[in-house]
Amino acid sequence: MSQPLRVALAGLGTVGGGVVKLLDENRALIERRAGRPIEIVAVSARDRTRDRGFDLGRFAWVDDATTLAARDDVDVVVELVGGSDGPALTLARDTLAAGKALVTANKAMIAHHGLELAGAAEKQSVALKYEAAVAGGIPVIKGLREGMAANEIGHVFGILNGTCNYILSEMEEKGSDFADVLAEAQRLGYAESDPSFDIDGVDAAHKLTILSSLAFGTAVDFASVAVTGIRHVIAADMAEAAALGFRVRLIGHGEAGTGGLFQRVHPCLVPTNHPLAHVSGSLNAVVAHGNFVGRIFFQGRGAGEGPTASAVVADLIDIARGETGPAFAMPVSALSQAAVAASGDRRGRVYLRFTVADRPGVLAEITAAMRDSGVSIESLIQRGVASDGQVLIAIVTHVGPERAVQGALDRLEGSQSLTGKPMLMHILDE
Ligand SMILES: NC(=O)c1ccc[n+]([C@@H]2O[C@H](COP(=O)([O-])OP(=O)(O)OC[C@H]3O[C@@H](n4cnc5c(N)ncnc54)[C@H](OP(=O)(O)O)[C@@H]3O)[C@@H](O)[C@H]2O)c1
Repeated sequence: MSQPLRVALAGLGTVGGGVVKLLDENRALIERRAGRPIEIVAVSARDRTRDRGFDLGRFAWVDDATTLAARDDVDVVVELVGGSDGPALTLARDTLAAGKALVTANKAMIAHHGLELAGAAEKQSVALKYEAAVAGGIPVIKGLREGMAANEIGHVFGILNGTCNYILSEMEEKGSDFADVLAEAQRLGYAESDPSFDIDGVDAAHKLTILSSLAFGTAVDFASVAVTGIRHVIAADMAEAAALGFRVRLIGHGEAGTGGLFQRVHPCLVPTNHPLAHVSGSLNAVVAHGNFVGRIFFQGRGAGEGPTASAVVADLIDIARGETGPAFAMPVSALSQAAVAASGDRRGRVYLRFTVADRPGVLAEITAAMRDSGVSIESLIQRGVASDGQVLIAIVTHVGPERAVQGALDRLEGSQSLTGKPMLMHILDE
């Protein structure tokens, strides 16, 4: 029989526990597909005594996960601890330096240190794989890196954070406010007790930078992503969006053009006839356009024990088969350092929501600011006086430069007529 692939597993939480269970349950099938057995030989987590629902006694236990890299009985290390730096990064660096393959689900680490790690993997001719890091169980890394490898990819965008999508879907369905849905999501375990990485768009931005690099052949560039989360979306935005024929989704959007690399994570109005408008609850989806293949739409579960374990073990099967290949679809030296595209040059439609005082002349003031900045209005809804005396005005613009819309908002800055900060959401027109 062929030699087994010997695996060390750091982290036995949601993803790590799932990996153990999947390898147990599908062992025979995986061995046939991989051409040899895949065996966990050593594990590490913080608490050795915790009942994890499987027998730990059959694996060697180490308290210090970073020592896994140096073990002679290990071919590949799977890092499922998390965190962009700290023990996860030490383990990743040591593993590759020791000439062993590395599998990780850690998008924060790949977004911040992916190039360094890919370079280290290349130097040692070993694999660095991270399918579970973006969109969980959806094979989007493989899809871009391998399936679309022959194509020039113009843009890639999608719903990359299940927590945000769950919150927005619930707000839409129940007409509830953001804070109430977030509290309920935390109670149900769908949102972390500190949800800021998710709701402020950072997690989606980590994933977007990875997708952009794979799609465009550019170096991973987290610092240049413009990030807006969903904290300021209110129930009325969902209602107005629906009245105008849209749904609100947090979209990560990357584009490579003559102006450079554009990356933005933002709450966005998606027309109800677009497939992303129908991606609800905690699902994820990614759309990519290739110049020969056309549009490809990936959808599925972006998190959770089963989907993430599925992606991690698929990476292990690749390694067992001897498939390595460059982590970002081309050698690090071939990745370009793209200039950052100025968003003001972009053209599109936007949704603007103003809460204003109930007095004459306010609407005229807003529309004058738009006219003077060269923004043309496609539709406008004004809702009557709320109990607190505020009026809501929702506007959808015609296609125009983003710079002009910003100009209109700058003109209205400090206006006594506005009772709150205006909300701007871009409209996804594909
Ligand atoms: N959960 C998902 O759906 C999902 C989806 C995609 C990607 N990911 C990524 O997968 C990684 C793991 O996520 P998770 O949800 O599985 O996290 P988790 O449930 O919090 O598990 C983390 C594991 O790491 C262990 N750990 C923490 N610090 C450690 C240290 N210093 N040394 C050794 N072990 C340590 C913990 O030990 P104890 O169990 O003893 O506390 C736990 O077993 C993260 O990078 C995350 O971003 C997760």
